[in-house]
Amino acid sequence: MVEIRKLKDEDKPQVRTLELFCVREYLEGSLRKNWDDLPAELVEQLGASAKDSFEFYRDGGMSYVAVEQGQVIGFLFAQIIRYVNNIEKVLWIENIGVHPEHRRKGVGLKLLRRAALDAKKKGAKAVQSVIMPDSKEAVMLHKKVGFFMDGRKFAFLDLENFQ
Ligand SMILES: CC(C)(COP(=O)(O)OP(=O)(O)OC[C@H]1O[C@@H](n2cnc3c(N)ncnc32)[C@H](O)[C@@H]1OP(=O)(O)O)[C@@H](O)C(=O)NCCC(=O)NCCS
Repeated sequence: MVEIRKLKDEDKPQVRTLELFCVREYLEGSLRKNWDDLPAELVEQLGASAKDSFEFYRDGGMSYVAVEQGQVIGFLFAQIIRYVNNIEKVLWIENIGVHPEHRRKGVGLKLLRRAALDAKKKGAKAVQSVIMPDSKEAVMLHKKVGFFMDGRKFAFLDLENFQ
């Protein structure tokens, strides 16, 4: 029996391992990058479960884990943000992942629906989710939940060396 519950401090080690596994899968699969070539400091910063980010999402109360027999088999990191496209409260989903042995059993769907329904109770009017366009399973999952995809993309600018 899978339980969906809010992210807690004690989940950190298992969520970290699972999120890094999913990031690695993506980097090696879609981007053809060699994981072992990545510097340890970079790996430490990857993902929403990285140190300060984990604490932020845990405290925000809109992030979830799927647990089966004491094991974390899925996660979803999200927060409610103000004013996107003139919508006052939007649930922003930063990342979602399910352990490969537990995929295609409805866990991702449960995580997404729970987050969306809880956000609705808090007054959110919409959900935006970050999807890598080449992740077929993520696209299909979001479609099944009812997300609308119009091909929009997010552009990203690293401000560290920007003047
Ligand atoms: C995307 C992901 C979270 C889906 O989780 P999941 O628990 O396997 O998804 P579900 O079992 O709830 O699937 C729900 C629906 O999504 C669609 N779907 C999920 N995986 C699919 C796949 N591999 N191929 C086609 N459709 C898929 C189907 O419509 C499915 O319903 P169905 O099984 O009744 O046909 C999981 O595959 C994953 O962790 N992938 C790696 C990380 C990732 O891509 N994260 C997304 C961030 S970009």
